[in-house]
Amino acid sequence: MGLMEDIISLSKRKGFVFQSSDIYGGLNGCWDFGPLGVELLNNIKKQWWQSMTFRDDVVGLDASILMHPRVWDASGHTKQFSDPMIDNKTTKKRFRADNLIEEHIQKLRKKKKTDEADALEYKLEHINHNSDLYDLIIEYGITDEGSAEWTDVKNFNLMFKTFVGPVEDSSAVVYLRPESAQGIFVNFKNVMESARQKVPYGIAQIGKAFRNEINTKNFLFRTREFEQMEMQYFVKPGEEMKFFDEWQGLRWDWYKNLGIPENKLKLKVHEKLAHYANRAIDIEFEFPFGFGEIEGIHSRTDFDLKQHQEFSSKKLEYVDTVNKERYVPYVVETSAGATRGLMAFLSAAYEVEKIVENDKEDSRTVLRFDPRLSPIKAAIFPLVNRDGLPELAQNIHKDLQRHFTTEYDSAGAIGRRYRRQDEVGTPYCITIDSDTQSDNTVTVRERDSMQQEKIAVDKLKLYLLEKLS
Ligand code: GAP
Repeated sequence: MGLMEDIISLSKRKGFVFQSSDIYGGLNGCWDFGPLGVELLNNIKKQWWQSMTFRDDVVGLDASILMHPRVWDASGHTKQFSDPMIDNKTTKKRFRADNLIEEHIQKLRKKKKTDEADALEYKLEHINHNSDLYDLIIEYGITDEGSAEWTDVKNFNLMFKTFVGPVEDSSAVVYLRPESAQGIFVNFKNVMESARQKVPYGIAQIGKAFRNEINTKNFLFRTREFEQMEMQYFVKPGEEMKFFDEWQGLRWDWYKNLGIPENKLKLKVHEKLAHYANRAIDIEFEFPFGFGEIEGIHSRTDFDLKQHQEFSSKKLEYVDTVNKERYVPYVVETSAGATRGLMAFLSAAYEVEKIVENDKEDSRTVLRFDPRLSPIKAAIFPLVNRDGLPELAQNIHKDLQRHFTTEYDSAGAIGRRYRRQDEVGTPYCITIDSDTQSDNTVTVRERDSMQQEKIAVDKLKLYLLEKLS
């Protein structure tokens, strides 16, 4: 099995991630987070939330998923949020035209046809119309199952449509939001006034987003339902680049400080900018299938606020009473995927390590999560299931459980119990043995070093709380 398959298999076996509607054969592009997955996801979101809102100039918001349909006209999503699709007339299969070309570039690279691959990549980066994509597919003889019978390239809107109320007509159409950001833009004034904020200030939000992606792929990487952690920082026009640099540094450090090795992170500067942006950069992570975006940092100018101002006919200006000026603020956005991020943290933490135990060579699977992200913080083991040890262990378990997630495990050899916890990333295992009865100590074993330490029972809680914070 490849690394990716190993991670997916562990995710299911240990209860991190299940396929949505598994017993019905699954629903493509949708995933469920199991008991450990939801803890991990919540921990990631908590770390992000704290990093954003434990400061004076960023406040939180939780906007609804369904919004007024005019929001999406103003943002440009109704017209422009689409993928270029092409159908093969013979095989009847549908593809994203740009993906087809990208796959062809990869094939050329594998065949060491570097010049041809570079030339095609250059052309792909400089296409202006859908017809250019069609022309490239024909020019390079791209086929599906040997067939080069392609339709024209057509745009396919990625927003999920539904209806409010009982009548399914065009006046009742609403969309599941494809990004959480628009909920922030339309609340720019509400938040500023109620939270008494002054520019520069930011609004942070965590929430679900939905995109009817054509090709869902790579486990949690591209799904149809996912979660975003977005922050829009409103600044005076002309000051956006300074804040862009600042946020870029903060976001890079956030991943690094939560345990992602820097050699697995990369910045990708956007050469071709979206219509609303004057600067954009992606933070990429090296997944088992290669580097992929985990977060976008965009300088979105005043595009969104101005659009909403025009479409709603409500002023979305900032009035600076000190300097006696008024303007529509510019926006620096940090847009991270919570679910895609979970996959990054999971992949970065995953390791199969060779170890020597009792003079025997062995291996263990270990998730080296930063303890703040670990779904279970400590596991409690009575060494044997007699002589009062289970009762003592249960007392310690219940006491610690008031502060963080713990697991009680009394089944099997102690080595097997360690392995089970290593595999889900539990940083500390606590063994209760006869010493606990005689001198009130327990053995604490640390996941990564596998070092063991004797700790007095009355010091245990503080010891762990310090290590976990
Ligand atoms: N408001 C800006 C925005 O939504 P984006 O680059 O389209 O920008 C931001 O998305 C982040 O959301 C991505 O970096 C990724 O982590 C996550 N994301 C986007 N589409 C996704 C999908 N189909 N599945 C999982 N995560 C996705």
